Amino acid sequence: MSDQNRKRISAVRFIRKLHDSSRSVLVEASNGLEYVVKWLLNPKSATAIHTEALGASIYEEFGLPVPSWAPIEVSNDFVDANPSMWFELQGGTAKPRSGFHFASRSLDVDTCRVFETVPESWHSRIQNRSDFWGALAIDVWLDSCHSRHALFVEDDQASKLTAFFISHGHIQAGLNGQQRKSFRPYLYPDRRIYAATEMKAALGSWVEQIETRGSAVFLTVLRNLEVDVTKPFVRDFTERVLTRARSLRRTVSAMEAEFADAHGKKPARSVHPPAFSTAACDSLTAGRACSTL
Ligand SMILES: Nc1ncnc2c1ncn2[C@@H]1O[C@H](COP(=O)(O)OP(=O)(O)OP(=O)(O)O)[C@@H](O)[C@H]1O
Ligand SMILES: [Mg+2]
Repeated sequence: MSDQNRKRISAVRFIRKLHDSSRSVLVEASNGLEYVVKWLLNPKSATAIHTEALGASIYEEFGLPVPSWAPIEVSNDFVDANPSMWFELQGGTAKPRSGFHFASRSLDVDTCRVFETVPESWHSRIQNRSDFWGALAIDVWLDSCHSRHALFVEDDQASKLTAFFISHGHIQAGLNGQQRKSFRPYLYPDRRIYAATEMKAALGSWVEQIETRGSAVFLTVLRNLEVDVTKPFVRDFTERVLTRARSLRRTVSAMEAEFADAHGKKPARSVHPPAFSTAACDSLTAGRACSTL
């Protein structure tokens, strides 16, 4: 799961838990840098790692800012030595699996401030604000159906902000023939971040890029991630992604009018995955629900 330049790293020091829904942890890695580790199998998702890697790689290929990432090895000894990073479940705790996971370089460094959300009055400070249209186009294409998540990093003069897109663990590519009719599942929660006057031109140009390059980008990313494309699940998934790239213009056109109507009225509610239970976690860790992508 790495391209030629992406070096594998290993976890050397547990720093803290993050208390997000997929129970990520902050660690120091063998290269001396801090990373947010998202587990391959976590109480929320059996597929998080590969879709995280897939989504982050596709964003990178299209030039959208994402924290740099690497496959991280978390050894058995490291898991055993750090019980405070284990999953807390309703019926007790569960150990994360040792092995390779997804590590996102922490944006939270001493030299700059990072914000989870920003007030509307700051939106004009976001120098890549129009990238939210790119994120929307990609998320609709991949059917990444969780409200868009971004972190905002302030420059050292405390003037401009750059949005970094994180959280790509929800790519479904129209699973079970699902065709969503609205942008709503894909939007950033505060939809005022989308400059409405740019919609036609900006979204249109992203859709064109995806229709033109999306399939090739997707296949390159799968190859770089060393995904076994002969597996039936992967073949089916790939077919759906390529089909969605070809018909993206039609999909997006149908959603634009509704968005324009609702734009600017109030922040959308975050769409969160259902709560988990110990039983759900057991079935995931037993591998029964584990697809391979
Ligand atoms: N590269 C990063 N640098 C700094 N903080 C990060 C990074 N990646 C994730 N985080 C922190 O972890 C939190 C959760 O990350 P992420 O959104 O990827 O997980 P999630 O599984 O989608 O969880 P949630 O559903 O709570 O958003 C973020 O809100 C942020 O605080
Ligand atoms: Mg998230």
